Amino acid sequence: MSAENYHFAPSEAFARQAIAQASLYAEAKADRLGFWAKQARELYWHKPFTQTLDFSNAPFAKWFADGKLNISYNCLDRHVEAGNGDRTAIFFEGEPGDSKQLTYAELTREVKKAANALTALGIKAGDRVAIYMPMIPEAVIAMQAVARVGAVHSVIFGGFSAESLSSRIEDAEAKLVITADGGYRKGKASALKPAVDEALSAGKCASVKNVLVVRRTNQDVDWVEGRDVEWREAVGNASEEHEAQAFDAEHPLFILYTSGTTGKPKGILHTSGGYLTQAAYTHKNVFDLHAEKDIYWCTADVGWITGHSYVVYGPLANGASQVIYEGTPDIPDWGRWWSIIEKYKVSIFYTAPTAIRTFMKLGSEIPDKYNLKSIRVLGSVGEPINPEAWMWYRAHIGGGQAPIVDTWWQTETGAIMVSPLPGVTTLKPGSAQVPLPGVSAAVLDDEGHELGRGDPGLLVLTEPWPAMLRGIWGDPDRFKETYWSKFEGKYFAGDGAKWDEEGDLWLLGRVDDVMNVSGHRLSTAEIESALVSHPFVAEAAVVGAKDETTGQAIVAFVILRQNQIEAAGNDADVSKILREHVAKEIGPIAKPRTIIVVAELPKTRSGKIMRRLLRDVAEDRPIGDVTTLADTSVMDIISGKIAGGAND
Ligand code: WT7
Repeated sequence: MSAENYHFAPSEAFARQAIAQASLYAEAKADRLGFWAKQARELYWHKPFTQTLDFSNAPFAKWFADGKLNISYNCLDRHVEAGNGDRTAIFFEGEPGDSKQLTYAELTREVKKAANALTALGIKAGDRVAIYMPMIPEAVIAMQAVARVGAVHSVIFGGFSAESLSSRIEDAEAKLVITADGGYRKGKASALKPAVDEALSAGKCASVKNVLVVRRTNQDVDWVEGRDVEWREAVGNASEEHEAQAFDAEHPLFILYTSGTTGKPKGILHTSGGYLTQAAYTHKNVFDLHAEKDIYWCTADVGWITGHSYVVYGPLANGASQVIYEGTPDIPDWGRWWSIIEKYKVSIFYTAPTAIRTFMKLGSEIPDKYNLKSIRVLGSVGEPINPEAWMWYRAHIGGGQAPIVDTWWQTETGAIMVSPLPGVTTLKPGSAQVPLPGVSAAVLDDEGHELGRGDPGLLVLTEPWPAMLRGIWGDPDRFKETYWSKFEGKYFAGDGAKWDEEGDLWLLGRVDDVMNVSGHRLSTAEIESALVSHPFVAEAAVVGAKDETTGQAIVAFVILRQNQIEAAGNDADVSKILREHVAKEIGPIAKPRTIIVVAELPKTRSGKIMRRLLRDVAEDRPIGDVTTLADTSVMDIISGKIAGGAND
């Protein structure tokens, strides 16, 4: 039997103790809004809400709009006041091997001090604060402190370049940047502050008044007097008294930039009450979190939505104890993650398929050396997990018995939307399975007709949900156009999907020009515009090609400018220079795996590049139908070039 036909029912022992029971589905179905209101009441409301959803100005939604709450109070003070101040909130493991623990009482104290420091720097409710940090406790403290004072954070992943950082700071008009000298990654101190200095140089980012700098690596940094502020002084000397003030449920909480189908990243806006409601509800029910005894670990960086919802907000709102690891999985060797699970007795582990496939390739001898008996629930996120990887994950990390929850969601959805419930759902490797209680999804054909079982189509969400994005920062038209215009009144996710014969959902990858490389979302258009910004390049077309480990890999086809061909040198030189250029423009994560220099690109008569054909080339398949090409000989030349050996 092939792996996709496996079914794994929850064990009786697991089902009995599970937080989420099958009755949740019926409850949500009977009264969807009542169900969400009930989940929202799990939070502490300074002023209780009386309205659940206002979608009268669709697609702009308001959830719990007349209620008031404080996000950080819900994640911190509340647990201390309930007598859980001594519970560990964070087990921090630095890459070099240093470690540190913070209880809820200690974390609350640090966040209060940081909130006072922000206020002293003039940060007020509604101000934007950019955060560019390594995975250290101060990243969590910074985000919580920004939320606590009602400011809006925009976290920029540390792997993005100075260019990317400055365009995001400018788009949000951030007043403050919180960063660190650097962090430990891949066995060395990796600098962050120089990228901030560069992002703010030459009159760029004029909105920024201060840069708050955490010392992590103690490497040398340039210092701009009057602008740069030491975290250890500003926060270290701040008062420990800070009373959290209540903000409207719809008060903005954060902006997170993500790639779309154009060259300009979208600033996805999330607000407070609905977002925290769904982040907390899903974290508890999908991972079966028993906060008093579980040790949870999500490997995502806070620079991505997974790090927001399932490191900083969901787990803290639920009073969970979690591991935060600073570095990469291969330091000092590929056993590092498993040694961390053994050391902290991690019971719930959430990671991405690309990591699982990497470990699979390295061999099960590595995890098999460690005691992973503490694991009781495994999670997967970011891309479809192939059944083989699912089976390996369960066998070698999950002791052959842990349920795996394959969670489908997006930066835009804010929280998990489609996933099994571990004590309820009979698991099926490779499928994300069913919309969670309270979530409504459908698969449509191009004309918007709902498809039944067996037919692949486009995934939509048919009802608003509490953690839904509230817009794109500064661009309401793009918000409507991107998500709500393809199908009237429905949210278009950009993913292909199908229901199988048993009513389980299979995700089939993006249907737009968005790529998914190691679970990182990248836009073909953004990389193309980075390529053409180099003087060598006249034209560029980027496609995502299937890759066994990373899901997709970036393959770029470039046409050189006639007058630069000599200067550019041979294809290997061009490739090296352009890959570096993309790393500088966007970040190392966006470097094409392969760059192929071509004389022409396949275009239709109207001038549209036919990426489908380029994907055929990149994936080494026979070329599909070329009859709509303006010049049908182009593909022969391109494929001839590949056969002759493309550079890597
Ligand atoms: C895109 C969203 C959700 C946090 C991480 C990525 C793909 C995500 C799954 C899954 C199949 C998945 C989709 C989606 N995706 N999870 N379990 N199965 N595909 O967030 O960067 O906003 O990317 O990731 O294509 O649209 P993101």
